[in-house]
Amino acid sequence: APKKGLKDYYKAYFPVGVAVGRAQLQGPEAELIKQQFNSITPENAMKMGPIHPEEDRYFWTDADAIVNFAQANKLRVRGHNLLWHEQTPKWLFKNADGSRVSKEVLLKRLHDHISAVVKRYQGKVYAWDVVNEAIADNPQEFLRNSEWYQICGDEFIAKAFEYAHEADPKAQLFYNDYNTERPEKRERVYKLLKQLKDAKVPVHGVGLQGHWSLQEPTEPELRAALDQYASLGLKVQITELDVSIYPWEKDRRAKRPGESDAYTPELARQQAAQYKMFFRVFRDYKSVLTGVTFWNVSDKYSWLDTYPVAGRKNYPLLFDQNQQPKQAFWEVVQF
Ligand code: G3I
Repeated sequence: APKKGLKDYYKAYFPVGVAVGRAQLQGPEAELIKQQFNSITPENAMKMGPIHPEEDRYFWTDADAIVNFAQANKLRVRGHNLLWHEQTPKWLFKNADGSRVSKEVLLKRLHDHISAVVKRYQGKVYAWDVVNEAIADNPQEFLRNSEWYQICGDEFIAKAFEYAHEADPKAQLFYNDYNTERPEKRERVYKLLKQLKDAKVPVHGVGLQGHWSLQEPTEPELRAALDQYASLGLKVQITELDVSIYPWEKDRRAKRPGESDAYTPELARQQAAQYKMFFRVFRDYKSVLTGVTFWNVSDKYSWLDTYPVAGRKNYPLLFDQNQQPKQAFWEVVQF
């Protein structure tokens, strides 16, 4: 087992974080979290659906447990997230009669939600992913055609940041998205952030989720993205890092009968090389990067085990299913 944690190896660089649920707060994964990391992100517990299931009812239990664990173990907390098109509660976009809410009603609900959640954790959550994944997947489009967009136009983005800033003026506020290194998406994320900065919206950073694979991003793509976002004077964090052993889009299918989903030595080698490259670049961008967070603790459980389809095991993290460091771990800490 490693004598030091990722947080120790990277002490002179940036905090190293991990996404957790309540299940990881006890047992061997909890021990690993305490040994290796100095930041945590609730994987689901602070999202609007889980934390605000009905208009007049909040469910704080899970998020409180994670924040209390962080305080007891001196971990910083990244809040995730205040506005997303997924995991929204059923009541949010509807009036009592089932019709769609007006923009005024939706913005009022957004305001009430953000101020309740951000104020509850004021001083305990140092940074928030305020708006998550608002850019469209289709490169021909700009903003995602979500219910937020359909009801509010583009205004909901600036409003969310303003509400969060009003609730906790000291919190660092992030825009967070995936595939942010692909040139066509990079340009659109940049455009959004530039618009927000120009309009003096309180946005302080950009989160690059980092759901990456053995193929992408390439080193030039990663550097180009970090350069471009840094040019806006924003803090940059890698917020949801994992390296899938399957290609991101080319292989969205279930495991076929008889097909292996084993973690072969060749996959381990390729993954270690990819992680090594990523962290070499991260170290080079020490003055820009203010955090790197992994999305889940060990290969025992990853969201990628069920995405895009269930029944195919993935091995995207630095620790194996028994919480032991993998080849990729040693590549990341040898420099
Ligand atoms: O809690 C319910 C449970 O009560 C229910 O019985 C069960 C049946 O489906 O679902 C459970 O909720 C699941 C939830 O995770 C908690 O386990 C949801 O179905 C499932 O969709 C949800 O997945 C999460 C996903 O966001 C939501 O789209 C993943 O755990 C989480 O890792 C993932 O995280 C996202 C980031 O927030 C944003 N960036 C992408 C990233 C990966 O998709």
